[in-house]
Amino acid sequence: MRLDRLLANMGIGSRRDVKKIISSGTVTVNGVTARDTGLEIDTEGDEVVCCGRPVKYRKFVYLMMNKPSGVLSCGDGVPGVKVCADLVGDDYGFYDLSPAGRLDVDSEGLLILTNDGDFIHSIISPNKKVGKVYFIRTDGELDEGDVQRFKEGIKVDDDFTAKSAELKILKSIGGVSEALVTLSEGKYHQVKRMVKACGKTVTYLKRLSIGGLKLDESLAPGGYRPLTDEELADLKQQAEH
Ligand code: URA
Repeated sequence: MRLDRLLANMGIGSRRDVKKIISSGTVTVNGVTARDTGLEIDTEGDEVVCCGRPVKYRKFVYLMMNKPSGVLSCGDGVPGVKVCADLVGDDYGFYDLSPAGRLDVDSEGLLILTNDGDFIHSIISPNKKVGKVYFIRTDGELDEGDVQRFKEGIKVDDDFTAKSAELKILKSIGGVSEALVTLSEGKYHQVKRMVKACGKTVTYLKRLSIGGLKLDESLAPGGYRPLTDEELADLKQQAEH
């Protein structure tokens, strides 16, 4: 891999930033100052140091994004409609990113983008019981009967009965409710369909957390950042059980 691409992919800066850093002579490869931005690096064997810090190539990347409404979470959608991976800058352009658990085009909130297929499977598999929490606003007031129905497992249609889920009503007034829904599975339009089965309609949906990982509220819609090592280790541990 080219030296500038490696440094950009490892989050040192944009491609333009890292070109400047390399030209300034602060990057060494195997102890020798490297000024050629296109120098080919053996990611397994070469030792790259940038501004005194060793830079270790990572095969997998894990990004947390605050998905905005109006953008598809996955690439197999409508031509002309943007997908979340398009919002990720050139720094991660090398990676083929997919979401670990989709969100509808009009949904917002926590989306994990990664190129680690096993990780995606471990997060979305209902057997792993990684709970996802959604904030919803509804047209129609949710009530204690709905809380009970969610708990018992709602029969959504002839083909699908949802597993037991938690519905926590935050407020119900004036024909509108706000609530938190916790699911351990992630079927197509699942929250919307469960609420529909209770005779109400979801008008707004935002995912707040996946397992113990909470959306970083400092991320503007469309903003993203790499998961910290600790966040990733915690999630992987939860997905193992
Ligand atoms: N459930 C839905 O209905 N939509 C989402 O985007 C996520 C969960």
